[in-house]
Amino acid sequence: MITDLKNDVVPKIFGDADDFLPILGTDFIELYVGNCRQAAHYYQTAFGFQPLAYSGLQTGRKDRESYVLVQDKIRLVLSSPLHPGTDIGRHIDQHGDGVKIVAMWVEDAEHSFQETVKRGAKPYMETKVKEDEYGEIKMSGIYTYGETIHLFIERKNYNGIFLPGYVKWEPEYRPSEVGLKYVDHMVGNVELGQMDHWVNFYQDVMGFTQILSFDDKDISTEYTALMSKVMSNGNGRIKFPINEPAAGLKKSQVEEYLDFYHGAGVQHIAVATNDILGTVNALKSRGVEFLRVPTNYYDTLIERVGEIDEDIDSLKDLGILVDRDDEGYLLQIFTKPVEPRPTMFFEIIQRKGANSFGKGNFKALFEAIEREQELRGTL
Ligand code: FE2
Repeated sequence: MITDLKNDVVPKIFGDADDFLPILGTDFIELYVGNCRQAAHYYQTAFGFQPLAYSGLQTGRKDRESYVLVQDKIRLVLSSPLHPGTDIGRHIDQHGDGVKIVAMWVEDAEHSFQETVKRGAKPYMETKVKEDEYGEIKMSGIYTYGETIHLFIERKNYNGIFLPGYVKWEPEYRPSEVGLKYVDHMVGNVELGQMDHWVNFYQDVMGFTQILSFDDKDISTEYTALMSKVMSNGNGRIKFPINEPAAGLKKSQVEEYLDFYHGAGVQHIAVATNDILGTVNALKSRGVEFLRVPTNYYDTLIERVGEIDEDIDSLKDLGILVDRDDEGYLLQIFTKPVEPRPTMFFEIIQRKGANSFGKGNFKALFEAIEREQELRGTL
């Protein structure tokens, strides 16, 4: 059963005395990867991210190299170790390439740390001050599901390029952007029976509210199922759906993820665009691979979602999905996993009023994933 909880809760407004963890937005997402230099090239070439900052041997950092890429409000950090025996190396060995840090932009890093730890968060890093000639950054951090970290970044006294320790990265190679705007939501996969634990974590420790829930009757195919609850912070800028596997005839995509990631972690990063046709066209021509639903999906599209602005043939051509809720409609498409393990992938989403997550597409989508699982022999 789908439950829309939006009407049952009083949304907290940013700045409310109530909101003990005011968050201004997603600050950056850091991936630990085997070869950050090549990954940076991929995110430039395929996804249109622009070079922003660098940290490594040339900046006096001896243990790792990091590249920071940006596209509108999205900042990606890609890091690799320079020696064996590092935490980054161990993380990559365990999980493959994946998201280590989901950093949040806050007004007060120390307050964020104190308030969340007081409510039960496991500390990752006490508040640190980092300075250079451009000012100072305060940062602190806590653990969330698996080995994933939330950092709290306070940058009101900083006007450098990214963080102290980074210098401008200015390569000549600069493929154009593809129209990605901001992080719409980030989904976490957690172990069977753990969804409510992490829902409670976001509720009690971070002051988020649950805005939506799906159970296995909403999200199931002939073979597999999953359950999901969507958590949102006070001002709605951060949305974290949390998935757990549900019993099905065969292995669900969430179980497959957990098997290959060896634990809970970020399943997908959904990035918003204002022009999904243009964005997906560009991504495809640059080699990004997407999941495809059967073309008969489009035969009944108008009956299902009503009139839309976009040309159906163009959507069909690119494999873009559409769903409608009470407030409007949305267009979305999912990439294949972007690393050898069937773990993390991206969603491209354009919202035209809808605030939901594409429930009407789940079945077609999951069947598409199952066809991929079949090919991998992991269904
Ligand atoms: Fe999503």
